[in-house]
Amino acid sequence: MELLAVENLRVYYQTLRGDVKAVDGVTFSMSPGEIMGLAGESGCGKSTLGRSLVLLKPPMKYVGGKVLLKGTPLPIWDKKTMASFRFSEVSLIPQYALSALNPTRKVKKLLTDILWSKGIKFSQIFPELRRRMELVELPLEVLNMYPFELSGGMKQRMVMVLSTLLNPSLLIADEVTSALDVSTQKAVARMLVEFRDRKFVGAIIVITHDISLLYQIADSIFVMYAGKLMERGSTEDLIQRPKHPYTQLLVASLPRIGARYAQEKLQGIPGCPPSLLEPPQGCRFRTRCPRTWEKCLEEPPLVTTKDGDLTWQVACWLAVDKHA
Ligand SMILES: Nc1ncnc2c1ncn2[C@@H]1O[C@H](COP(=O)(O)OP(=O)(O)O)[C@@H](O)[C@H]1O
Ligand code: SF4
Ligand SMILES: [Mg+2]
Repeated sequence: MELLAVENLRVYYQTLRGDVKAVDGVTFSMSPGEIMGLAGESGCGKSTLGRSLVLLKPPMKYVGGKVLLKGTPLPIWDKKTMASFRFSEVSLIPQYALSALNPTRKVKKLLTDILWSKGIKFSQIFPELRRRMELVELPLEVLNMYPFELSGGMKQRMVMVLSTLLNPSLLIADEVTSALDVSTQKAVARMLVEFRDRKFVGAIIVITHDISLLYQIADSIFVMYAGKLMERGSTEDLIQRPKHPYTQLLVASLPRIGARYAQEKLQGIPGCPPSLLEPPQGCRFRTRCPRTWEKCLEEPPLVTTKDGDLTWQVACWLAVDKHA
């Protein structure tokens, strides 16, 4: 059975100037044990999609769609019910989690607050906590420290241990390596894989603007642009043989994949993503796509191809014509 199934999900921000259509009809699914990378330029709706599966709160509003976790509907619009799923079933490491840690509370207090909301005693969970802290090479003294006393890497490891302590089915890790130096980034990326291998988490969505990180750890990649799914496929296929013009440009702008210390300068994609208050009609990538033609004024359908267990999805008229 699929671990996660998301169907036509729409989540907007309510603002005085109108609705910001940050997640606008997104459909995908994940298998148990899968690490899925969620990639795309800044402002494309990645964090909104991740947050909406765990903690949807104003000015975000649920507009439509379904989310199933292990076959059970997840009432993401219902804050109260979702509180009972948080940490135990779905867990989020938010973007900027490191600076968001309450600086006036020791790490142990942060943890006991989470446990209290779940009716779990610290002593009950302590043996497992100790085991996991050892695994990520954090000394127990960290529990009696304030967040500001920890280095960025230690904080990120502690946040990862805390957010997965109750073995959630789904972990969403939003830009968890972005604020770290290169060697710490690698260690945190390895930890994500290790947590999955040890079944501390059922599956992981790794949100990042850095596709080369995903090349190392993700089983599949989901490319998002302007609130929509552009392409989804296995990591290898998507990076070696991208089919969507947006993915092609993203991949082309990477330093040579595999090169450890690339000297080549990154070439971004010309232009920037559109405002999501009034996104372009038809294909949302139309205003920057080098291959656009009049057909693209209509919204391209999502073409889905199955190859064994692998599903490849692409939203581009070029792909439709090929399969016609
Ligand atoms: N609180 C908010 N109110 C209004 N618009 C927002 C808010 N947060 C994010 N947005 C908008 O929603 C869109 C998606 O943002 P986000 O999900 O943070 O993108 P990403 O994580 O891909 O950088 C952007 O256009 C952003 O400006
Ligand atoms: S549908 Fe058209 S505009 Fe959109 S990515 Fe494909 S070719 Fe480009
Ligand atoms: Mg973000």
